[in-house]
Amino acid sequence: MICLCCFLIFINIFFREVELNLKDLQKVIPMKILVTDPIHEDGLEQLREFAEVDVAIGLKQEELIKRVAGFDTLVVRSATKVTREVLEAAKELKLIARAGVGLDNIDLKAAKERGINVVNTPEAPSIAVAELVMGLMLSWARKIPRADAGMKQGKWEKKQLMGTELRGKTLGIIGTGRVGKEVGRRAKSFEMNLLAYDVVKDEEFAKEVAARYVDLETLLRESDYVTLHVPLIQQTKHMLGAREFELMKPTAVLVNVSRGGVVDEAALVEALRAGKIAGACLDVYEREPPKDSPLPGLPNVVLTPHIGASSKEAQRAAALLAAEKIKEYLPHTK
Ligand SMILES: NC(=O)c1ccc[n+]([C@@H]2O[C@H](COP(=O)([O-])OP(=O)(O)OC[C@H]3O[C@@H](n4cnc5c(N)ncnc54)[C@H](O)[C@@H]3O)[C@@H](O)[C@H]2O)c1
Repeated sequence: MICLCCFLIFINIFFREVELNLKDLQKVIPMKILVTDPIHEDGLEQLREFAEVDVAIGLKQEELIKRVAGFDTLVVRSATKVTREVLEAAKELKLIARAGVGLDNIDLKAAKERGINVVNTPEAPSIAVAELVMGLMLSWARKIPRADAGMKQGKWEKKQLMGTELRGKTLGIIGTGRVGKEVGRRAKSFEMNLLAYDVVKDEEFAKEVAARYVDLETLLRESDYVTLHVPLIQQTKHMLGAREFELMKPTAVLVNVSRGGVVDEAALVEALRAGKIAGACLDVYEREPPKDSPLPGLPNVVLTPHIGASSKEAQRAAALLAAEKIKEYLPHTK
């Protein structure tokens, strides 16, 4: 028994020593971080507290390949393309932090093969995205874009701009994850009735906002506004297409701030032209920018250029969260 106790005390002291030495080592040889896309200054400041930080924005691919060697961590947003060639040149790289959501600009397969970890910050923009959804619904309901355009052309179109209220309307939320829930909370305060559809039901959330989980078909049939908050994966590609638009009310409005590919855009254009649904408010497109798309030419759409996460607060949160995640990873880098 005494022997076992001694052994455990020895192990405890040994590992504490190792940990202390590691921390000392990190003070002597600080982590080297390369930041290649603009991130909020507060995030950079956090990184500088525990690492040597080089900021090099707007590098061409060849420049990045030359520059990346010797860094432990690479911090990017969406502009830097972290290709296999970049990763092959990044001999010391152990971590890539994407201050933002999508990882489409990173060759994840090549990173995995080289044992490089990838972290992102999907938690950061939820409020920004949810507020945009409210803004889009209000824009549609009160015809704000048209009112603004008219005023700027010297028109006073009071009569033509009769709108509707959100209160009492039914909002169908497809995907009740981070963003879907924040939309639900805001819509509840507008006194909307809530329906929800998700592969994973969160009954606590449903209770909080008085939402009712239903099947997708019921949600589409009964909603005045349908808002999409699912990821773009194999199961959700073209989740809404011609068949689904047939099920919706002719007065219904589709809101998509998730990913363009979740909606069959050609079918949506058809549905909007044929009056199968009344309108669409879109922030995301199958092709971005939606070059040659008929969407901007339609009278019954409100469009924004993928600005869901573009709030100062969300960008700051993304930078701070990325710094936090890098710091958490610190002990694994040496
Ligand atoms: N417009 C923008 O700038 C912007 C910004 C941030 C996020 N987004 C997008 O918003 C979407 C939601 O983000 P989030 O942070 O809420 O994600 P999340 O992972 O928190 O939530 C996604 C939800 O979708 C559900 N889901 C997954 N597959 C489903 C399926 N087949 N059917 C029904 N439900 C399904 C999940 O169970 C989960 O509850 C993502 O597509 C994300 O890329 C867009």
